[in-house]
Amino acid sequence: MKKILVVQGGGRIHGNTEQLADSFIKGAKEAGHAVEKVSLNRTEVKGCIGCNACRYGKPCIQKDGFNELVPEIREADLLVFASPLLFWTISSKLKAFIERFYCIAEKDENPPYGRYEKYPVKDAALLMTSADDFFWTYEQAVSYYKFAVIQYIGFHDRGMLLAGGCGDTNGKPQIDRTDWLRKAYGFGLHIYD
Ligand SMILES: Cc1cc2nc3c(=O)[nH]c(=O)nc-3n(C[C@H](O)[C@H](O)[C@H](O)COP(=O)(O)O)c2cc1C
Repeated sequence: MKKILVVQGGGRIHGNTEQLADSFIKGAKEAGHAVEKVSLNRTEVKGCIGCNACRYGKPCIQKDGFNELVPEIREADLLVFASPLLFWTISSKLKAFIERFYCIAEKDENPPYGRYEKYPVKDAALLMTSADDFFWTYEQAVSYYKFAVIQYIGFHDRGMLLAGGCGDTNGKPQIDRTDWLRKAYGFGLHIYD
């Protein structure tokens, strides 16, 4: 049994992304994992302003929901990042959330080339929805995830589900007309097979 924290980084309430995340959660719970979800629509998390207070043992200067999430982040074995594709990358809300990992970094006396600190050891996965479904649609988002979350922060990738072709936001969410919810359920069910 793993502890999983699903971070829904924006998108419409009960929209394509939330439905995708909920299907993943259903599968993961059925597999016996303990799953929590935080919606950045409901919990405000601002970006890091680089004041470096956290580097001197002081609490984060940002007054928002992030600090209360820190214990949940620390306890989680797996962080699942869910976001609609907005202007070809992850949402600004999810980006802001990831920026705040700055305050959970620890000093690394001997960092490998190109790294400056170390982060807790965790697994990560990415769930995304978009209107388009071309071969380049997720290029920027996947590049960011792979570079920042996996290579730099050092989380271990458990996979991605990139749900293209869910329709635009001018109308009702259309993900239920696709096969993505079934795939997300299966992704959650088998995430630790
Ligand atoms: C501001 C904005 C920017 C968007 N940018 C893109 C984009 O770059 N590429 C794309 O395929 N879809 C884009 N979309 C469409 C959404 O990614 C798509 O409708 C998504 O499934 C919406 O998720 P939601 O229902 O959870 O809100 C954009 C939508 C909005 C509102």
